[in-house]
Amino acid sequence: EEELGVEILPIRMLVYVKERDEYLPIDEIPEGVTTWSISQSELRDRLDDGREIPEWFTFPEVTAELRRRHPPRSKKGFTVFFTGLSGSGKSTIANVLRTKLLQAGGRSVTLLDGDIVRKNLSSELGFSKDHRDLNIQRIGFVASEITKGGGIALCAPIAPYAHIRKRNRELITRYGGYVLVHVSTPIEVCEARDRKGLYAKARAGIIKEFTGVSDPYGTPHDADVVIDTSDITPEEAAQQVYLYLEKEGYIGPAAG
Ligand code: ADX
Repeated sequence: EEELGVEILPIRMLVYVKERDEYLPIDEIPEGVTTWSISQSELRDRLDDGREIPEWFTFPEVTAELRRRHPPRSKKGFTVFFTGLSGSGKSTIANVLRTKLLQAGGRSVTLLDGDIVRKNLSSELGFSKDHRDLNIQRIGFVASEITKGGGIALCAPIAPYAHIRKRNRELITRYGGYVLVHVSTPIEVCEARDRKGLYAKARAGIIKEFTGVSDPYGTPHDADVVIDTSDITPEEAAQQVYLYLEKEGYIGPAAG
């Protein structure tokens, strides 16, 4: 301060003093009065949930503008991204969830199932790391567009690589919600089911680079919901995701 000749003026935190109906610096609060404050993250949570912003906090015009710029989660689009081994139950859960969300109404629901995407959007791709990444990147792009438009995208590919899942999360959260569901059913259960007969072919070496057998699966550490379908029905599994969406405010109680 002395060297520069510039006096430092610290920014002092202000809190609302109820008894005086005014804001005072936190270090000048008289004893025995009630103080209120709302932190940045608390404000963001309240906007996300569409909860009340109290009148003492700011002017109603400011609140209205904040709400316009930051609509609650229940008014924005979102993506539920399922990841897990082949046969883990991703598509089945996504289908049941789709029905539940359609019944709740309010938003369009688009299912980007692994096999359907492979038939249409990624028909020229194989299962090398590069091709899988490209496949997941495409799914992420479509999901981000749906989310941007206020819809619901349900994605259900294997998506074995964490880095590309992370990139999708970053892309999609710019426009709305992103929920990662790890369908963690162990490979023994998936293989015992072997609905498409692919595990048998992979073990026999007829299918190369098969996820979980001869190709890696990167277990997510950032999953919002983890579901092992070994001992539960698809309805129960979908209900777990639905309850999470409700709890986080993606689906308004009125619609639920
Ligand atoms: S991902 O790795 O790019 O996310 P995606 O979900 O699109 O995979 O496709 C997986 C589906 O393709 C499986 O459910 C299975 O039916 C089929 N498939 C064929 N070959 C393979 C393979 N080598 N590895 C995994 N799945 C395969």
